[in-house]
Formats: sequence, structure tokens, C-alpha cells
Amino acid sequence: MTDATSTHPFWLAGRQATGDDILEVTSPWDGRTVGRVSVPTDAQVEEAVAAADAVAAEFSAAPAHTRAAALDHVVKRLGERAEEIAALISAENGKPVKWARGEVARCVSVFRWAADEARRFNSGEAQRLDADAGGTGRLALTRRFPHGPVLGIAPFNFPLNLCAHKVAPAIAVGTPIILKPAPATPLSALVLGELLAETELPAGSWSVLPVANEKMPALVQDPRLPIISFTGSEPVGFAILDSVPRKRVTLELGGNGAAVVLADFASDADLDFAAQRIATFSNYQGGQSCISVQRVIADASVYDRLVPRVVAAVEALHTGDPSDAATDVGPLVSEDAAQRVETWVQEAVDAGARLLTGGKRDGATYAPTALENVPADTRLGREEVFGPVMTFTRVEGEAEAFAAVNDSKYGLQAGVFTHDVQAAFRAHRELEVGGVIVGDVPSYRADQMPYGGAKQSGVGREGVRFAMEDYTYERVLVLTGIAL
Ligand code: SIN
Repeated sequence: MTDATSTHPFWLAGRQATGDDILEVTSPWDGRTVGRVSVPTDAQVEEAVAAADAVAAEFSAAPAHTRAAALDHVVKRLGERAEEIAALISAENGKPVKWARGEVARCVSVFRWAADEARRFNSGEAQRLDADAGGTGRLALTRRFPHGPVLGIAPFNFPLNLCAHKVAPAIAVGTPIILKPAPATPLSALVLGELLAETELPAGSWSVLPVANEKMPALVQDPRLPIISFTGSEPVGFAILDSVPRKRVTLELGGNGAAVVLADFASDADLDFAAQRIATFSNYQGGQSCISVQRVIADASVYDRLVPRVVAAVEALHTGDPSDAATDVGPLVSEDAAQRVETWVQEAVDAGARLLTGGKRDGATYAPTALENVPADTRLGREEVFGPVMTFTRVEGEAEAFAAVNDSKYGLQAGVFTHDVQAAFRAHRELEVGGVIVGDVPSYRADQMPYGGAKQSGVGREGVRFAMEDYTYERVLVLTGIAL
């Protein structure tokens, strides 16, 4: 159980340890101390990496049932501690507790999928080679093996579940992982460590190290960590990739998610539904999701009926204390983050955008905000706002709508409100994104499906089985003298 007064140890090679420095974790809502976390020394970081390296071969060869059992244990314990962990996520991140509960439920799903995949993993694929004379009597068997230990670098916006997306696939394939949580939100990751420590996973196969960001370049360069799985900002992600071009690097970066409403989605019920989903998922967890709705692109034939509905739905959202179950929108992760959003909105308004609602800041809380006529050359018009802000764009027809979605350096997910199955397939073909969600907002994510970006939104895919593929490579075994 986490409390604000004691100092929480970190997890070094599966056991608790303390270092010399302390990281204070504060609530973005009221500034109170939520917890104090011990920070590892350089020598302790080295110890964790050496332990991961030392155990890698043994872990990879461990029976599938042992890894699956550990993953199942985490599923069970997350269920038992769900309410406490949701409260912790909400306290350290500022996320309304209703969304924090959803995050815990998703984390259960990630570990459950990982347990299932661990049981299936590496059953192998056989290929007869005697289609050519030179292959007579030969059989190829392909299995996957880990590249080596993983360095997982997690962001603040899903402090539990985006750690799970790095850790659970590593356990499923049997490769050690060093997990580095975000400095603002290390407590949820440390609780995940508590659950892993209750398992029989080998010492050294996992560590949770709240290393300071400034210390990360050395860890990124460490050749004993050939895989890096990073979720976070675009500049940091690409700086990592550029600094280690020969490593296997997965980057889950930004997005400025578009929700398209096509002309056929036009009944009152359609527009009420679209408005509700857009309002909710532009503002859930303060818009601090890479797939929250930032750009609403609506056909001219529905635009004037959609916009007032969305604005009314936005204004009905309850902003306030994240620990209150009735709260829809809490603070951003820090006052600095809210000030940046305020600056970007003001810049857009100064450049000619029309504010439809919101546009006010109170400390770290930024009011749910909607604008139209946002000039494309403003930061709000082209960058990822990562705040509770949406922009409306009126378009004429599907082709213009899809072109507007693609007019972005990002390409994570897009939502398309339509009933037309042909339009759905055209969206799938034409939109330059990692995922197209038909009949809903871009913010939908099932944790087992491939998740990741096109263009500047990233490299590689998460989603349990897809991360397992990124962590491993195919190795062929050719058997000779086989009676095929
Ligand atoms: C992200 O912000 O990229 C993660 C979104 C999610 O897992 O729902």
C-alpha cells in the first residue's frame, strides 16, 4: 500500500532497494505530496542491467507455464487491488478516478492476453523444403527468440497501462525488462513491481527504476539492452532512435487525432451520438492521450447541426476534483502543461480562430475548449495539443475530409462516423494512420490489437502479440534426413 509519508523503494532485479536521492510525487490537483520515491544510483542501475543480461538465456528457456503463471498472478492481484490502484493513478496523475478505474481494467486485459499468448508463443511453424531437389529430406522449423533485454520507457498519461504494454509482452516471450516510469508518475509502476515480486519470475528478469531523465542517454546506449520500447513525445522518441540506429526501437509518439463526420451520418440520433463521443474523448484525462480527439472534420451538410451539439456536450462535462467519481475532466499533469495549452489557444485566437467554448485556465486545470477557423500555421493547427481542446473544420465531401485528416505530420488513429461500408473501406485504404475506427472516435483502443503510428507518430506496434514480435526475431532450424 502506497502512502505519502514513507519513501518507496524501487525494484532492482526483482527485489526492493533504495538509493541516495528522493523524488517527490505531487498531486496535479492540489499539490499535496502523494508519495516519495527513492531514486537508484548509477551503480544500482548498472547492477540491474547486469542482472538482466545474466538471466536472459535462462529466462528465454523457461517453460511457458511458468511465465503464464506469473502473468495470471498479476491479473488476479490487479483485480483484488483495483480500487486502491485506481485511486493511486488518479492521485499521482490527476486523472479522474472513473478513467483510472478503466485504466486498471485495461491493464488486467493486457496481462490476461499476455498469459494467453505466452502459452501459444513459439509453437513454431514447419515448412517442408523438398519442393526443390536440393531440399530433399529437409524440414525447416521457424521459432522466435528474443533480441535480448528490453529497456521500456513509459509516459505519465497512462502510468499503469502503458507500463503493462512494455512489461507483459516481455514476460510472455521470456526476455528481461528494465522499466523506467515517468518522473511525474512512478508510483503506479512501483505497485506493478509489488505484484511481479509476488511471482516466481527469476531475479534479474525485471526491474522498475525511476531513473532521472538526464541519466537516460547512458542507459539508451547500453549494448546489453538491444530493444528500446518508448512511449512519449516525438522529439525525445526520434532523438532516441537517431542515437541508437542499430538497436530495435519501438516508438509510440504523438498524434492529433481526427474524428470525421461524413454526410450520411446525419440523423438526429447519429449526430447526438457523434457529439457525445467527440465531447467525451476530446476531454478524457484532460485530452492527455495520443488518440484523444483534437480535430473534428465534418461534412458541410452536417456541420451546423453537429457543432452546437458537441459544444453543449462539452459544456455538460463536470470539471473538478479527480477523486470525485462524478468528475469527467481533471487537471493536466502540471500547471506548466496547462499554461502551454493556454498559450497555444490564445495564439490561435489571435490569428483569427473563433472560440466556441472554454479557453480558461485555473492552475493546472484547463477548461474543455472548442474552436473553429483555426489557422493551419498555428501550433494548435499543426501540433499535438495534448490538452482538452478540439478544433472544427468544415469540408465538402469525403475526399476533402480524408485529405484534411492526412494533412498532418502525424498518423496515429482516425475515427470516421459513417454507415457506409464502402466509405469505411475507402477510409482504411486512404487514411495515413495506424488505425481507422469506423463509427466512433479515434480514441478507441483494444489492448490486444496492433497499436502504433504512421508518419511522425511512431515506429513499430504495441498490442500484446505485436510487441512480442517486436521483441523477438525468427530463427530457422533446418533438419536434414527427415522422412517427410
Ligand atoms: C497513448 O496515449 O498513446 C495511449 C492511448 C491508449 O492506450 O488508450
